[in-house]
Amino acid sequence: MRRSLWQTEDIMMATRAQTRPERAEPGRSGEQARDFEFTSADFARIRELIHRSAGISLSDHKRDMAYSRLARRLRARGLDSFRQYLDALEADNDPAEWEAFTNALTTNLTAFFREAHHFPILADFVKRRQAPVSVWCSAASTGEEPYSIAMTLIEALGDQAARQATVLATDIDTQVLAKGEAGTYQFDQVKHLSPERLKRFFLKGTGAHAGMVKVRPEVRAMIRFEQLNLTDRDYRLSTQFDAIFCRNVMIYFDKPTQGQVLSRFEPLVKPGGLLFAGHSENFTYVTQAFRLRGQTGYELTRDGGAGAAGRTSQRATSGVPA
Ligand SMILES: C[S@@+](CC[C@H](N)C(=O)[O-])C[C@H]1O[C@@H](n2cnc3c(N)ncnc32)[C@H](O)[C@@H]1O
Repeated sequence: MRRSLWQTEDIMMATRAQTRPERAEPGRSGEQARDFEFTSADFARIRELIHRSAGISLSDHKRDMAYSRLARRLRARGLDSFRQYLDALEADNDPAEWEAFTNALTTNLTAFFREAHHFPILADFVKRRQAPVSVWCSAASTGEEPYSIAMTLIEALGDQAARQATVLATDIDTQVLAKGEAGTYQFDQVKHLSPERLKRFFLKGTGAHAGMVKVRPEVRAMIRFEQLNLTDRDYRLSTQFDAIFCRNVMIYFDKPTQGQVLSRFEPLVKPGGLLFAGHSENFTYVTQAFRLRGQTGYELTRDGGAGAAGRTSQRATSGVPA
């Protein structure tokens, strides 16, 4: 009988044995030599197209990144110039090439339990919610964030109750979603987690998977991965969520786009629900539908009157939502 390549025991020993250099963006190292001419007009056009298709505002300092990532598309398609590539992209309107173009230009940096202060807040919050709890992770990247959410739900609600809970994990980038669905990671990416979490939520790889971990199937089973573009007019979501995570993606959008996204979130939050933002994102100046509740957590304005507003300002200064 073949032995499974994912084992349950000794995860800590294997974790300690494997250390690899940190990689900010796996498989996306920059390249120095330029094979293709890359004009300001080419970059301006790329900026216009990615803004139109994904809402992403590429800043000037992303010029080299845009070159190196899209140069691969030119090579793959045997094209000689960016102009040719961009002309073909627009003229052919091939969904697969638009997908590759978008995947190439997203920034997917993430980590397990990133901005860790949100997870105890989520844990306290879901204990007071009616089952089944549902959470939407709207910029899920390679899966670390939705898995951290699912793990938090298990810790807060217990294995049995968490089985009813669901996490919808969406992103515009199909490549990162595939990685999230696979649920396999390098040991380095989980080495900062507690021994309890490692044991409870991961299997260690052996043989061809040595040096890796895989999220346990019961955690994986709580999550549905799907592509969703936050700049789409209609998200085609028929359920409401207890909490929405929208962290470290709005920074790539301009203010009007942020406002549109927040107005689409509003009807999707259950009464009393929460919206979590990234540390450098502030929605207070973008919408009146949500107000600050703690450091970077938001609640719906429609949920409360003056009393709630008073509580909010207190929490906003203390940074510890009740
Ligand atoms: C920097 S990562 C943040 C990941 C995670 N939320 C976190 O905070 O660790 C930003 C993610 O937003 C996604 N993204 C960018 N534009 C998007 C859009 N229009 N719709 C959905 N996701 C988008 C990217 O593909 C990327 O995976």
